[in-house]
Amino acid sequence: MVRRVAVIGAGSSGLACIKICVEEGLEPVCFESSDDIGGLWRFKESPEPERSSIYRSLVVNTSKEMMCFSDFPMPADYPNYMHNSQLLQYLRLYAEHFHLLRYIHFQTTVRSVTQRPDFSLYGQWDIVTINVDGQEERHVFDAVLVCSGHYTHPSLPLSAFPGHESFSGSCFHSWEYKDADACRGKRVVVVGIGNSGGDIAVEISRSAEKTFLSTRKGAWVIGKMSNSGLPLDMTAITRLNNILTLLIPKTLVNWAAERALNHKYDHRLYGLKPAHRLLDKRPLINDDLPGRILHGALVMKPNLRAFKDCGVVFEDGTVEENIDAVVFCTGYNGTFPFLPPALSEGPHGELTLYKRLFPPSLLRPTLAVMGLFQTKGPIMPIVEMQARWAVKVFAGKYCEIYIYQCPRRAALQVDYIPYLDFMAEEIGVRPNFLRLLVGDPALWVKVIFGPCTPYQYRLTGPGWWAGARQAILTQWERVAQPFRTRAVPEEESRPSVLFSPWLLTIGGTVIMTVLLSKKDFFPVLQGAAQSLERCKIFLRDSWFTG
Ligand SMILES: Cc1cc2nc3c(=O)[nH]c(=O)nc-3n(C[C@H](O)[C@H](O)[C@H](O)COP(=O)(O)OP(=O)(O)OC[C@H]3O[C@@H](n4cnc5c(N)ncnc54)[C@H](O)[C@@H]3O)c2cc1C
Ligand SMILES: *[C@@H]1O[C@H](CO)[C@@H](O)[C@H](O)[C@H]1NC(C)=O
Ligand SMILES: *[C@@H]1O[C@H](CO)[C@@H](O)[C@H](O)[C@H]1NC(C)=O
Repeated sequence: MVRRVAVIGAGSSGLACIKICVEEGLEPVCFESSDDIGGLWRFKESPEPERSSIYRSLVVNTSKEMMCFSDFPMPADYPNYMHNSQLLQYLRLYAEHFHLLRYIHFQTTVRSVTQRPDFSLYGQWDIVTINVDGQEERHVFDAVLVCSGHYTHPSLPLSAFPGHESFSGSCFHSWEYKDADACRGKRVVVVGIGNSGGDIAVEISRSAEKTFLSTRKGAWVIGKMSNSGLPLDMTAITRLNNILTLLIPKTLVNWAAERALNHKYDHRLYGLKPAHRLLDKRPLINDDLPGRILHGALVMKPNLRAFKDCGVVFEDGTVEENIDAVVFCTGYNGTFPFLPPALSEGPHGELTLYKRLFPPSLLRPTLAVMGLFQTKGPIMPIVEMQARWAVKVFAGKYCEIYIYQCPRRAALQVDYIPYLDFMAEEIGVRPNFLRLLVGDPALWVKVIFGPCTPYQYRLTGPGWWAGARQAILTQWERVAQPFRTRAVPEEESRPSVLFSPWLLTIGGTVIMTVLLSKKDFFPVLQGAAQSLERCKIFLRDSWFTG
């Protein structure tokens, strides 16, 4: 019988885990090494070793209706893409609302997590913690949820670049970057075109004399806005798009979506074009980067090759002299120093995880690692679902789980809706679309055609929430709310294309057919062709779902 569950870390993942444990009648005990909740989202003026660190201006890259927890919508007046301080505020509201703080032991660091001698019988764990006074304590737990984050150990590949020892400028990792104050009037090289690299290069380029963005592979760059300025993830991550992705050949989607992107700014002209196709990798989400290139403030460069005394050499042989600083936005190494080394079975000593959650070699599945995956959507709702699934597995309701196979090189990337749906199916909270269509067509329309917001997983089954339906029906209201800051002249009302009875009938037929017989594609394609307008939006926005 699993009763006491250790939750390691009180960031967004840890908070969700505590909440789910309480909801499922378990006893969570959370250990948090710092003195506050929020993890990554609690901005600190200077980086602290072994802790994640963000820059002052960081704004989320997933919209509020998509990234919230499934039974706790964000306040209506929050901007759709909020500043890091506001996300922390949301986490505080969440912790307060569900009374989570009482389960957290602050300033208590988990040192080791080991299987007890009789692990094969009971699946229990020994956990050693250490508090600020250096006092060690031992605990026994029935299960463990690891929520310690994985942006704590910057990967700084300096040794790959000859000459760095004698370089006169400064070299540092994005983990140490807080703002562009020190870059005023300087000449700066930013290495790496991940989301942080893009943000930081843009910010520096506003005060530096010149900023160079060095990238090995290039990237597809997309903005946060979809049609009408609506949040992109809300128009892209829909069940309809998810179904269409299965029907339309990937090459066609790639071709159409790349064309649409290049129509805004030609990736070849702007020096951004990568070798990979759009759907093959996560695109860079950045609204300002192309504009900075257009102004000449930001200059695209190939990979860095070497340092000179006061300059750098790029792989195409070009040299930039008088460089004051090089910022490495080269990512992080995920490490879990407190876990048994035996769990790190990957080819490079990394954790292998069944369904991105359970270490496959354990005789009993009583430990889960949360949030160790990448996806083209928000992380928090997935982690929440991982927690809901994990506690069900802990409770032994799904014993067959540990007769599984785990691929040797498990990819970090998961598909957003399919992964959520898979876990939801396991725990019985995936909406039944047929029943929904018959019983509540208005809601069905929102669930299928609208954004796949987390509330969908609280409509039925264990842990259902009475407010879920209302939350879905009012989601666009909360999107509009923060914009209502100035009265604008009224427009005559026009019937919306999306909700015309004609389109609903066709859409319904399409979805029904797909759901009823996955093989019978022809009428489906006909239906899809008729929904041309929606298809166009889909093709443009489809890098998310692909
Ligand atoms: C720059 C950046 C931007 C991001 N933007 C987004 C975004 O817009 N949308 C999105 O969905 N995701 C985003 N992410 C991903 C983000 O990491 C996750 O969404 C999520 O917030 C991570 O939360 P976490 O609780 O798993 O980890 P963290 O927030 O890192 O929290 C881990 C906690 O565990 C504690 N801890 C660690 N080790 C121990 C130990 N041994 N003992 C006790 N306590 C310990 C730490 O002190 C910390 O409080 C971003 C990530 C980065 C780096
Ligand atoms: C961390 O990243 C560096 C590259 O910067 C690599 O050399 C090293 O092996 C990585 N460590 C682990 C434990 O993965
Ligand atoms: C948002 O940024 C973080 C940090 O770079 C990244 O890990 C995540 O994948 C991004 N989200 C999306 C949807 O691209």
